[in-house]
Amino acid sequence: MPQRKKISLIGAGNIGGELAILAARRELGDVVLLDIPDKEGVAKGKALDIMQTCALDGHDANVVGTSDYADIAGSDVVIVTAGVPRKPGMSRDDLLSINLKIMRSVATNVKEHAPNALVIVISNPLDAMVYEMKKITGFPRERVIGMAGALDSARFQCFLAEAAGVSVKDVNALVLGGHGDTMVPCLSYTTIKGVKVTSLLPADQLDAMIERTRKGGGEIVQLMGTSAYVAPAAGAMSMAESYLKAQRRTIACAAYLQGEYGYSDIYMGVPVIIGGEGMERVVEIELSAEEKSMLEESAKHVRELIDAASKL
Ligand code: APR
Repeated sequence: MPQRKKISLIGAGNIGGELAILAARRELGDVVLLDIPDKEGVAKGKALDIMQTCALDGHDANVVGTSDYADIAGSDVVIVTAGVPRKPGMSRDDLLSINLKIMRSVATNVKEHAPNALVIVISNPLDAMVYEMKKITGFPRERVIGMAGALDSARFQCFLAEAAGVSVKDVNALVLGGHGDTMVPCLSYTTIKGVKVTSLLPADQLDAMIERTRKGGGEIVQLMGTSAYVAPAAGAMSMAESYLKAQRRTIACAAYLQGEYGYSDIYMGVPVIIGGEGMERVVEIELSAEEKSMLEESAKHVRELIDAASKL
């Protein structure tokens, strides 16, 4: 009998829990929620809670909590949220040294126990964390991607729909670059039902929304005292689903560049096609001179983070 797909979630905190709910509700496969031994109870408790929700809603998915990496064997997808989230006043970069140590241990275990999985990294600072995951696992770039652009684009779409007074379903936005204050919202590819937003909304209003998008994560940290977790989970699950169902959707993700956009040996947010082979292609779009220079600035920042990580 064909087996269900297997989705392992490393980190059973706020985002990990949301990911488990989404995977189970969409019946994408069976779920393993893994956390450190101290938090094994939390992972097991969340797993039971979600299984019981499946019984209520009529969804077929087995969800287990564990702290044993042997349980992730045979995973089709591994999504990593292990690490600490931001507190008010912290930037994503402030998490580098703590989360780097965690990422190194997670990557070593993923390499050993789930060598054929597609790995999606969410932990911050994202671009440096996903770079480390690729470096340690040695997996091909098709199988190691980072979730950022999907979330940043969704934030921009949300603000645009509100400002234009239209359904968010008709808004398409594209945010490139690193996942931080230097991210690059591409106005030339941002449309409402195919019409460029630049012809629908005044420039000063667009500038304000770009600024709000750049600081969109921080706005939520200020309000809640911790990072957002519902939308980040949804962003990563759309990437996982595109892989598991070979949908070949175009999604902005942190991808390892090998010459695309003029960059190499770096993770940056770019549009990619995710299908049954993983990150199948980096889509290269024409950028304006201004967007190119913003991307350059963003790349410089990501490079500094990667360099700092290599010295830790
Ligand atoms: N292995 C597995 N899990 C770990 C490890 C490890 N080595 N170290 C820490 N964790 C777990 C924590 O015990 C915690 O349960 O990772 C979980 C993180 O959950 P939260 O603290 O709730 O954080 P969350 O909001 O889910 O964000 C996780 O994603 O968006 C980023 O900035 C965010 O880096 C943060 C990460």
